[in-house]
Amino acid sequence: MKRRDFLKGTAGIGLGAGAMAALNAAGMMPVTRSAEADTMPTATTITPTAETVMAAPLPHLPKSFLWGASTSSYQIEGAVAEDGRQPSIWDVFAHQPGRIADGATGDVACDHYHRYAGDIDLLAQAGLQAYRFSIAWPRVMPTGRGEVNAKGLDFYDRLTDRLLEKGIQPWACLYHWDLPQALQAQGGWTNREIAGWFTDYALATVKRLGDRVKHWAMFNEPSVHAIFGHAIGNHAPGLTGWQNYVAAQHHQNLAQGMALAALRETHRGLVLGTVFSLQPVHPATDRDIDKAAAIRFDAVWNRANLDPLFKGQYPDVLAASFAPLVKAGDLDTIHQKVDFLGVNYYGRAHVVDDPNSVLSGATFGPLPPGTPVTSMGWPVEPDGLVELLLDIKKNYHNPITYVTENGAGYDDPAPQDGTVSDPQRAAFIQMHAEAAAQAIAQGCALKGYFVWSLLDNFEWAEGMRRRFGVVHVDFQTQQRMPKLSYHLLAKLAQRQA
Ligand code: FCB
Repeated sequence: MKRRDFLKGTAGIGLGAGAMAALNAAGMMPVTRSAEADTMPTATTITPTAETVMAAPLPHLPKSFLWGASTSSYQIEGAVAEDGRQPSIWDVFAHQPGRIADGATGDVACDHYHRYAGDIDLLAQAGLQAYRFSIAWPRVMPTGRGEVNAKGLDFYDRLTDRLLEKGIQPWACLYHWDLPQALQAQGGWTNREIAGWFTDYALATVKRLGDRVKHWAMFNEPSVHAIFGHAIGNHAPGLTGWQNYVAAQHHQNLAQGMALAALRETHRGLVLGTVFSLQPVHPATDRDIDKAAAIRFDAVWNRANLDPLFKGQYPDVLAASFAPLVKAGDLDTIHQKVDFLGVNYYGRAHVVDDPNSVLSGATFGPLPPGTPVTSMGWPVEPDGLVELLLDIKKNYHNPITYVTENGAGYDDPAPQDGTVSDPQRAAFIQMHAEAAAQAIAQGCALKGYFVWSLLDNFEWAEGMRRRFGVVHVDFQTQQRMPKLSYHLLAKLAQRQA
């Protein structure tokens, strides 16, 4: 099963007044896509032109607002057997027949391991000030524990130095789902001991790079890893069931807390945080059972990350499920100070009750009529970002936040005249930049925006067929070609300079 392909139905637009006005001014209002009327009667898409999106008014953002791009190791690096790297759970999973929609693997991906210097030039040429990448645990500790593989760390050393040479801040994420397979053989995230293994790996990595890399995220989207990798099974390691979800979620929380505490104790001057996938959850209908389902879904997707970190507790509706795993002191360990919260935002979840769903009997339902969708079927809801950031401000003491991922998977046209025309993706970024400005105007401590992604890459269970890059990658030749959205991002970033 594909990621979120239990997302059913069609969709609704809910842009805030400011974003609406900006779009209106630029002639970018969403319109119904009639070609799809038969199958998706109410689905819409946004249909801006290159001219309108590039001419759209710039959002009012502070001068200090940070612009960057995000990637992750398994999705771009390739070189899976080089310099001592051993398989991760994603190598194993991607090679199992039928797991990946188009049969792709990350064996080569964007060959970034060899082409990182040119890729960093692309960041620099766009005037981006920060780059969020992830470190592959199986490069640093090929079997997950014990001896450090210096050659694996050498790669991140070169990458870091090149970024700094170009004046770009390195933001390293310690875990973006590529667990060493050797640890999976010992239970992976279902084994409580992994909290200590992760902390050892974090310490070894920061010991080598922490003199130059100041910004560290512990995790990328632990809930997505727990849900898709451990409950639904359409992501590596392909486990299923509620118990595996609960274990994977709790042990990631614990690992995050232990690593944060250990890094704080051993290193001064680092900026430590973590990254969550967050989406405002709404019932898809006004039925009481869907309202109750929305509360449970919100707990699983969002609050099982946020509440333990910021409040030292699990949400009430999950407390009984987590209780058997929570040992004395665990919640204190997880309840850590973070210097920033990374927010990965793509859209809202519109949820219905579904007794067959492993996710506490709740699942994605139909989108409000008229909601535009991307080629992934994900709703385009920039005002959901404002709603989300206001929720974080209200419920979690307004922490410093960065949008660490936001972007869109669209089926791009073939490259022409040295570029790829992706006005929909550009408009998506533009609308979310406007939403960011609205959230700041309403007092949210939002300090920056990282697009997902710099490059087209290996999109997990979707393989190579879903493109999120602002730079097109020809996977045959590895040629890179900036898209219109890259130029839009450059325009947004450069006005801050
Ligand atoms: C996020 C993941 C990222 C990418 C985007 C599209 O959930 O963190 O790796 O796949 O979705």
